[in-house]
Amino acid sequence: MQIKVSSSTEEFREALHRSSSQPRMYPMVLLKAFLLFLAMGIGFSVLSFFMTRQTGVQSAILHHFQSCPEESTGLDRWIKPPSNLIHSMTDEQLLWRASFMPMVKNYPFKRIPKVAFMFLTRGPLPLAPLWEKFFKGHEGFYSIYVHALPSYLANFTSDSVFYRRYIPSKVTEWGKMSMCDAEKRLLANALLDISNERFVLLSESCIPLYDFNTTYKYITRSNYSFVNIIDDPGPYGQGRYNPNMAPEVNLTQWRKGSQWFEVNRELAIAIIKDTLYYPKFSNFCQPHCYVDEHYFPTMLYIEKPGSLANRSLTWVDWSRGGAHPATFGRNDVHEGFFKRVLEGQNCKYNGHNTTVCALFARKFAPSTLEPLLELLSPSIQFGLEMVRNGSVSSTIN
Ligand SMILES: *[C@@H]1O[C@H](CO)[C@@H](O)[C@H](O)[C@H]1NC(C)=O
Ligand SMILES: *[C@@H]1O[C@H](CO)[C@@H](O)[C@H](O)[C@H]1NC(C)=O
Ligand SMILES: *[C@@H]1O[C@H](CO)[C@@H](O)[C@H](O)[C@H]1NC(C)=O
Ligand SMILES: *[C@@H]1O[C@H](CO)[C@@H](O)[C@H](O)[C@H]1NC(C)=O
Ligand SMILES: *[C@@H]1O[C@H](CO)[C@@H](O)[C@H](O)[C@H]1NC(C)=O
Ligand SMILES: *[C@@H]1O[C@H](CO)[C@@H](O)[C@H](O)[C@H]1NC(C)=O
Ligand SMILES: *[C@@H]1O[C@H](CO)[C@@H](O)[C@H](O)[C@H]1NC(C)=O
Repeated sequence: MQIKVSSSTEEFREALHRSSSQPRMYPMVLLKAFLLFLAMGIGFSVLSFFMTRQTGVQSAILHHFQSCPEESTGLDRWIKPPSNLIHSMTDEQLLWRASFMPMVKNYPFKRIPKVAFMFLTRGPLPLAPLWEKFFKGHEGFYSIYVHALPSYLANFTSDSVFYRRYIPSKVTEWGKMSMCDAEKRLLANALLDISNERFVLLSESCIPLYDFNTTYKYITRSNYSFVNIIDDPGPYGQGRYNPNMAPEVNLTQWRKGSQWFEVNRELAIAIIKDTLYYPKFSNFCQPHCYVDEHYFPTMLYIEKPGSLANRSLTWVDWSRGGAHPATFGRNDVHEGFFKRVLEGQNCKYNGHNTTVCALFARKFAPSTLEPLLELLSPSIQFGLEMVRNGSVSSTIN
């Protein structure tokens, strides 16, 4: 920070100096143009000599005027999000840069807190048209980040909300530390935009259950971050604990939770800056440990227990049993299905009981796109809206 601050002071001084010397530029230019005019009368060889000079002067002037808009000396350069998500930082450099945190509590500019929607995918987003509809008209209240396999080339057109929202990525394996690394990478890239205040992790099979405004209000007005934290005494919970993780992590602190989290800026920074728990999980949460189900829940449970809602925002159906939750296909999604999902919930929101608990649901196969888009049409929407309206208004308004 120190270095950056002093460099900005230097640039400020430099700019002052430049702007005070600027009026003197014009007589200089006129004089040189006049000299050139004289020279033209003298002869071809002399002219060509002066031509070279003039070209040099012109490019100096051009350079001077072009460099002005690029170099912002105001606050802008600190608060404008990167215009291009592609950068050449290594993970180590990125995490370091993203961990910068202002220590003054109030922002000296009008800051609309944005929700960062972070998609962790293999590549394609088959339900993208659904999300396009969800985000349409809400520019300025959200940002999107996608982590795909490095080999994947996205071909979204410039009118898509996903256009140029893919971040530099690495190969990622489910249940391995590389999965947590990818999540950190998403968080860190999103943290580079100072307006991002809440960070939601989603997959390509996730869908939104509510409209954007409801989703936005629910998330930004929550005093808690939505991280699922379970103390499971069974073989798939405490059974995965390795005593080598002590003393940083004791068995009594070992937690499990869904990978699909929502965290605020403070917790996002706590996650990306962690170097205390990382080696313990990286070395001792394997094999068959599924580190992405334990690392963040355990770490946050130890470090920030009071900030957690202890539940996930993403609904998933485990009722069919087995190692994986149910994947829904074309014939599963209809109005009745959504009534069942929306009505069957009970939880706490900022200390009050509510039936609005999950804002997202998974897992939906690509074949559900068409019926899902139809469900968003106004006529079918009415019944669902009534279900949503009643519970939503008493929860967040
Ligand atoms: C992008 O590529 C996919 C196949 O990889 C293709 O189905 C789709 O039509 C392409 N979209 C655009 C906008 O070119
Ligand atoms: C959503 O919220 C924005 C900003 O608060 C508002 O301008 C817009 O009218 C709202 N949209 C709907 C559909 O309620
Ligand atoms: C873990 O337990 C040991 C022994 O009970 C204790 O000394 C240590 O402080 C505990 N570690 C943490 C992080 O609470
Ligand atoms: C979540 O659990 C932690 C630790 O048990 C607790 O401190 C916190 O109050 C809980 N959060 C809510 C919203 O109840
Ligand atoms: C949220 O937290 C703020 C600050 O700690 C507090 O003033 C407010 O009452 C809390 N709101 C709810 C709904 O718990
Ligand atoms: C909230 O729900 C719990 C059960 O989940 C219930 O015990 C409690 O009485 C409810 N509180 C209110 C105010 O309805
Ligand atoms: C739901 O609420 C919105 C805004 O409060 C209202 O415009 C709409 O008519 C309501 N829909 C239903 C079906 O009650």
